[in-house]
Amino acid sequence: MKEMRLQKYLAECGVASRRKAEELISQGRVKVNGETVTQMGKKVSQNDVVEVDGKLVKMEKRKVYIALNKPVGYISSVKDQFGRKTVMDLVKDIKERIFPVGRLDYDTSGLLLLTNDGDFAYRLTHPKHEIKKVYEADLLGVPSKDDIMRFKNGLWIDDYFTSPADFEILKSDGKTTKVRITIHEGKNRQVRKMCNKIGCPVIRLKRISIGEVSLGDLKEGSWRNLTEREINSFLDNQK
Ligand code: URA
Repeated sequence: MKEMRLQKYLAECGVASRRKAEELISQGRVKVNGETVTQMGKKVSQNDVVEVDGKLVKMEKRKVYIALNKPVGYISSVKDQFGRKTVMDLVKDIKERIFPVGRLDYDTSGLLLLTNDGDFAYRLTHPKHEIKKVYEADLLGVPSKDDIMRFKNGLWIDDYFTSPADFEILKSDGKTTKVRITIHEGKNRQVRKMCNKIGCPVIRLKRISIGEVSLGDLKEGSWRNLTEREINSFLDNQK
């Protein structure tokens, strides 16, 4: 937190409006580092101990939860060692230090959540919560009924046996197929690896929902705040 005027600090901490905070100061009810401050213009930072009527005042960190429609060509991390564009370039207008929850590949688009709430991120990414993630993909080739069953029954990728996934064909022109895939885990490049395994590599991959949060008509490169209901849907999901 940068230094700010005491009355602004009190207002941002939710003690009172700025005007009311000024009154509290001039009434001698505010102390900074044990000393009563009655003059306006005093600046404070997070290292200062601020009290009102003897009670400690703390800046509550505002929790931020956002949904971003990530375009292809962005890295899902805060920094990239090779200087490539990251999803942080798309959420520059947010002051809080947010970070992506899980990841989408550089060449995958769609829904990515970002937050500054570590608990929330942990809950979303921990496999025990089995949060449903839905993807739409264009595949090369036409999956057979057997292939679809392999998705539903689980299959080996690397040294890992996947848990049951849903696989629905949306349309096919005989050469390529548009499908909807639902998984409840999040291994590295899992959807791509599963599709390779059935011999139908991914041409294009987009995540359209995570749990109760859907991309809807959010434009590529844009973000929105999650609703209270969306946030709570993850907090209630205590498997
Ligand atoms: N599965 C993938 O293969 N890539 C992603 O980005 C997400 C899921």
